Parts: sequence; structure tokens; C-alpha cells
Amino acid sequence: MKVAQKHCRTIWPDARCKFVQIIDQTKLPFAFEIVRVQSLEQMVHAISTMQVRGAPLIGVAAAYGMALAMLEDESDAYLAQVAELLIASRPTAVNLAWAVGRMVAALQAMPHTRRNFTAWRLAANIAEEDVAQNQAIGQHGFELIKSMYQNQLIKDRPFNILTHCNAGWLATVDFGTALAPIYAAHDAGIKVHVWVGETRPRNQGAFLTAWELAQHGVPHTVITDNAGGHLMQQGLVDMVIVGADRVTANGDVCNKIGTYLKALAAFDNIVSNQRIPFYAAVPSPTIDWALTSGKDIKIEERNGDEVSSIQGLDKGGKLQTVRVIPLESSAANPAFDVTPARLVSGIITEKGVFAPQNLHECK
Ligand code: MRU
Repeated sequence: MKVAQKHCRTIWPDARCKFVQIIDQTKLPFAFEIVRVQSLEQMVHAISTMQVRGAPLIGVAAAYGMALAMLEDESDAYLAQVAELLIASRPTAVNLAWAVGRMVAALQAMPHTRRNFTAWRLAANIAEEDVAQNQAIGQHGFELIKSMYQNQLIKDRPFNILTHCNAGWLATVDFGTALAPIYAAHDAGIKVHVWVGETRPRNQGAFLTAWELAQHGVPHTVITDNAGGHLMQQGLVDMVIVGADRVTANGDVCNKIGTYLKALAAFDNIVSNQRIPFYAAVPSPTIDWALTSGKDIKIEERNGDEVSSIQGLDKGGKLQTVRVIPLESSAANPAFDVTPARLVSGIITEKGVFAPQNLHECK
């Protein structure tokens, strides 16, 4: 996608395969900074501190993390150690374990001396596949939006899509998952408007989704996380599209905390004579076929400081972090929740759109 009119991806290797560059997402939207990641240790840091985040991007970052590690040591013992370290860096997004597993399988089959070269090539392949998958998701999702837009009962207003967290191009290598259909619809001339839930505690909606939609010129409005249900009752939401960190074989959707409440509210409200459709847009590596239900997902518990404080610019334009709860209070911070398949209208993948009960057809 474009930043200030220039095409940009979220991660890319240097031409000589010695380091990787990333956009530091902890600085957005207040600063656009590119960081050089030169070692496995720095990549683990980038993933765990969320300089890179979003399930597909975490997977690609981990693949490049393995490539960086192979510059240091190509032995079997180190390969196993590196895999363990990367998988532990963030637990919920299955793309991380998927990408690491794929790299380990390919590298184990190689003589030690060729591992370094193969690792960089394979990481680049995983990145390219992500881009192609997201582009295809965009097309399938666009068809859905187009047909709903045409069947909309009230014609003289934009098609309102609510999203949560950031599942745009910043969460992937390019294009995004939940936002890919929105970009495609906007580019095709459909009048879309996006309700962007701010997504406390880290504000990925307010900081990242709003920023990238603005870069692309897509009309949008940031709302508090609790406003979605009210807007649905007012008939102001035509569709919900979110990304996911993991979808289980039965169609349960694990995504950023608060997604479940949006799905419940969509299920309880009617628009254009139907329940408000709730879709998750995911590339196939986000589907965890090994888990039969979302109840088995280990949810990441992050530091309570993310809840007890908030970041923003002060009136002088200086970035400040301020405490927002009493000094005596503690904070809990479960980062993801599971939306049961019964609340999900469909899963948009690169292979097409599937009802949760038919998800196996996408295997
Ligand atoms: O904690 P984050 O910012 O990594 O969480 C990201 C999300 O929850 C996204 O919605 C999800 O990973 C899908 S990304 C295409």
C-alpha cells in the first residue's frame, strides 16, 4: 500500500540478505519510522514489543527471524532453540507457529551449510504468499460487499462497515485481511464508510487502522469500543469485518479482545431485513486445523501497564504516557477473545467465502 504516495510493505529484507527492515508500529500514527532488525534477538524483541504485530505479519517476521538466526549458527541444536524462542514470543497468533514449523521442516532437510541461503529464500516466499493471499481475500470480500451494497434498503447513504483492531496492511505484508475487501470496494467506486473501534488497551484501531485508512483516503470514523452496539441499533452498521489470530476447525474466531461483543451485538440487530453480517477475513495459515474448538486456544495475557496507562500527544505535540487508573488498582489484560462459530456469518479466505460449518472445504 502507499505511504505519502510511495509504495511500502511492512517488512522487507536487504538485498544482500544480512538484515530486515520493518515499520516500527509502536511509533504510529505519530511518527513513521523504519527500523533495521539485524539479529534473532532483535526480531524476538520486535515481535514481543509489537513493533510488528498482526497474525500474518508476525508469521513472516518469525520466518525472517529464523533466517537471521541462520547467519549466526546453522546447527540442528540452534535451529531447535531458535524455533522455541520465536514461538514463545507471542502465543495467540497461529501463523507464528505455522511459519516457524514450515521453516524448521525445510531447513532440517538441508545440509547445514545451505541453511542460511535456503532460510532467506523461504522467508521471502512466505512473504510473497501472504501478499497474494490477501489480494485474493480482498477480491472475495469485495464481491460480498458489492452484493450487499446493491441490496441495501436505504440507498442514499454510504455502506457502513465496522471493524475492530487492525487487520489492515500493517497487520500483514501488504493489503491486509479485513481491510483488503474495503480497499477493493473503495477503489471500485463503492461509497464505503468504516467505523473504527479504538481497541483499548493498545489502540490499534485508533492508531493504526485509522492511519492506514486515511493514507488511502477511505472515509472512516473512530469510535469508542463500546459504541458499536448502539450504532447497530440505530441501523448504522451494514456489516462487520474483522481479522483473526486463529480460527479453529469448527469456525470459532479468536481475535483481539472485544471482538466477541461486536459479534453478539451484530447477531442481535437487523439491517436490510437480515441479522447484521459478521465476517472474519483470514488467510489459510490462520486456520488451526489441529484445534477443534476455540476453547483450546491459549490466550495471551499482556502486561497490566497497557491498561493502566495510555499514550498520546499532548497539546505541545509531545508524546506522553499517562496513568488512567488509581495508583491502588491493579489491571488485567487478556489480549484476545473467542467468538463462537454460531455468531459468524462466514470466513473470507483466499480460496473463497465459507460458512463456519463448511470451513473444512477450504482445507
Ligand atoms: O495484538 P495484535 O495487534 O497483534 O492483534 C492483531 C489482531 O487482533 C488482528 O485483528 C489479527 O491479528 C488479524 S491481523 C490480519
